[in-house]
Amino acid sequence: MSHHHKLLDVENLNVSFQAQGQRLHAVRGIDFSLYEGETLGIVGESGCGKSATAKALLKLIPPHTASITGQVLYEGKNLAAYSEKQMRTIRGKEIGMIFQDPMTSLNPTTKIGKQIVEGYLRHFPHVSFKKAWEEALEMLRLVGIPDPEERMHTYPHTLSGGMRQRVMIALALSCKPKLLLADEPTTALDVTIQAQILDLMKEIQKKTQTSLILITHDLSVVAHFCDRVIVMYAGKIVESATVDQLFSHPRHPYTQRLLAAIPRLDQPKGSPLHPIEGSPPNLSLPLPGCSFCARCPYAMNICTAECPSLYAIEPGHASACFTHDPRACR
Ligand SMILES: Nc1ncnc2c1ncn2[C@@H]1O[C@H](COP(=O)(O)OP(=O)(O)OP(=O)(O)O)[C@@H](O)[C@H]1O
Ligand SMILES: [Mg+2]
Repeated sequence: MSHHHKLLDVENLNVSFQAQGQRLHAVRGIDFSLYEGETLGIVGESGCGKSATAKALLKLIPPHTASITGQVLYEGKNLAAYSEKQMRTIRGKEIGMIFQDPMTSLNPTTKIGKQIVEGYLRHFPHVSFKKAWEEALEMLRLVGIPDPEERMHTYPHTLSGGMRQRVMIALALSCKPKLLLADEPTTALDVTIQAQILDLMKEIQKKTQTSLILITHDLSVVAHFCDRVIVMYAGKIVESATVDQLFSHPRHPYTQRLLAAIPRLDQPKGSPLHPIEGSPPNLSLPLPGCSFCARCPYAMNICTAECPSLYAIEPGHASACFTHDPRACR
């Protein structure tokens, strides 16, 4: 696979929520990019800022609830400066979305066929209804919905969770987005269906050369489906690597802990990550040092005082930890 064309370039993204007179700094200056055709995993414990990142990219956070700063360059255009009206030409059309709960994204009052057709016609207004209908049917076929002709005329609630998730994928892919943003797309499903849906997404992605950002708390999903991965902790990227690099030589103490805690055969697959003692820091308080230092077995004096930036380990691999500093002895 060639990953030469940079599709997305995120620079110094910050998300601060304002709630009950408090400011919660959920995403704290992250940088990453995504190349065409690539699958990037974003992994980390609950509350580390994965969804806030995804929503910030698409400007889905109501402006009065949060302040968002930074650059989101999509095909060279800075989405951060886009108006809501401009964003509507991007969401769904350029960047497709799949969220955890299909019922929040599917309209329960509209038949499946009509929903896909309407979404399609919104972005391709010059296409005939008949052509849009055929496209929708084709998408349902592609995602493996049995009797797609019949399904077009049914409501979302008549389907099983797995089938609804397939409809979501059909909906997300119907406008042929270049980038698909999937936030825990299968968490609500049982393990077998989860694997089927992810396999399906992967297959479609290969066919269509869509780029994929796959947000998950499940490292086995990352191992199986991603090319590259960023590990988030308390709103920051602590490690960034190819999947091979991350799983063979995890460098950040947090990643090492995560990997040491899986896979356990006695644990159901897809159970949330809680393998490390202690809890993440309070994101409402200032965090001058490394956000992991309170839980880190290697913490040094500097770790509480200063925040480590990413150290390049080798090409494609970086980790934000003072133990990588040549002056540190570990
Ligand atoms: N609308 C909001 N208002 C205030 N705080 C919020 C809001 N949305 C998220 N947060 C806080 O921001 C932080 C990051 O939340 P986020 O939803 O991005 O986490 P996550 O990594 O997606 O977690 P999960 O794995 O549970 O989905 C959390 O501390 C969360 O409580
Ligand atoms: Mg989330």
